[in-house]
Amino acid sequence: MEKKNVKLYRGLQGVYFDRTQTTYIDGSNGVLEYRGYNIHDLAEKSTFEEVAYLLIYGDLPNQKQFEDFDTILKSSRSLPKKTFNVIKNIKNSHPMDVLRTIVSMLASFDEDRDDNSVEGTIRKGIRLTAQIPTIVMAHHNIRNNRTPIEPDNNLNHAGNFLYMLEGKKPSQNAINLMDKDFVLHADHGSNASAFTARVVSGTSADIHGAITAGIAALSGPSHGGAAEDVMQMAREIKTPENAEAYVKNLLSNKKRVMGFGHRVYRAEDPRAIHLKEDVKKLSNELGQSEWYEILVSVQKAMAPYSRRGIHVNVDFFAGVIYHLNGIPQDLFVPIFTVGRIPGWTVQIVEQFQHNILIRPLLHYTGERDRKYIPIENR
Ligand SMILES: CC(C)(COP(=O)(O)OP(=O)(O)OC[C@H]1O[C@@H](n2cnc3c(N)ncnc32)[C@H](O)[C@@H]1OP(=O)(O)O)[C@@H](O)C(=O)NCCC(=O)NCCS
Repeated sequence: MEKKNVKLYRGLQGVYFDRTQTTYIDGSNGVLEYRGYNIHDLAEKSTFEEVAYLLIYGDLPNQKQFEDFDTILKSSRSLPKKTFNVIKNIKNSHPMDVLRTIVSMLASFDEDRDDNSVEGTIRKGIRLTAQIPTIVMAHHNIRNNRTPIEPDNNLNHAGNFLYMLEGKKPSQNAINLMDKDFVLHADHGSNASAFTARVVSGTSADIHGAITAGIAALSGPSHGGAAEDVMQMAREIKTPENAEAYVKNLLSNKKRVMGFGHRVYRAEDPRAIHLKEDVKKLSNELGQSEWYEILVSVQKAMAPYSRRGIHVNVDFFAGVIYHLNGIPQDLFVPIFTVGRIPGWTVQIVEQFQHNILIRPLLHYTGERDRKYIPIENR
């Protein structure tokens, strides 16, 4: 008999499971703050390195703290040689699969492998923040039969990431856009991947395990994978005039328009506002304004849905920015990952600081009291 009076929270929707001092989100009013700083201020005035420090340590760094942090990040960019052999062996896999595998492997090489204290976890999180761009771009070069490009320590995090794509020094404008994109992606509360990382840390497993699991969660199309799908949609739409019919066709077939909707935001995702402006500027500058126009036409076609709280999310405009920077479509989710590592790190640290096993209940609705029949009689 099914138990009565069980209140189910499918998808844990609307459930608070712990406290945090990292990221504040007000989904009804479209507000996002990291450690009390508004995302608009950080997007316009800060840098990824500064935001990573802010998330991990709780305050913005002074000049000396910034320089020390930057030096550690830069000196941690290289990878153990053995990882390149593994990348070669799996080079035809999706970049997120490669990333997941190599992050897991890095646990064995980390000098703090057996140190799961808060300090050790922070050191490992910072190292992973520095190493993950190198993994993504090493794989990209290896799969194109090229030698991986050595990190350039004269470039900041965003600049070096773009540089390692093909060894070409990126423009200052491209660096600034990438940097802002990383800032906007750096943390976002208890989303599916951060929650996954917390579940793993809840068992006191290490940060490499938690981030490996976070990468797996992020790779799905309902989470980080959406930017890739939006780009695909824009390609299929081809011209702004086709957008309305395309969207109607999706909706009438009960399909989702990628880059729209959010579990928490009922107002416009505050991160999307910045990315929309950036797509506009960049597509005009490069004489490829059709991408911006296609996206705006999709947004117009979806306008009636804003009454139901379905607005553009962070992934809607991000993909076109990457595309205009010459980045292939299957690297879009890895870019999201590059930005997200400080957020995962600090959430794992918070979990460790007052740890508790995360273990909710499942309401059983299957059969009971069945009689066991030996295999020869079934
Ligand atoms: C992000 C997402 C998974 C959130 O989902 P959720 O909080 O579980 O909300 P639901 O899936 O229950 O959707 C609620 C309603 O809105 C509709 N909806 C949500 N997102 C939609 C979208 N992108 N396009 C069309 N309809 C959408 C659903 O069909 C559902 O309608 P119904 O009540 O008539 O069945 C969902 O909005 C989605 O799939 N978006 C597209 C993928 C995407 O952009 N992901 C990136 C997120 S940052």
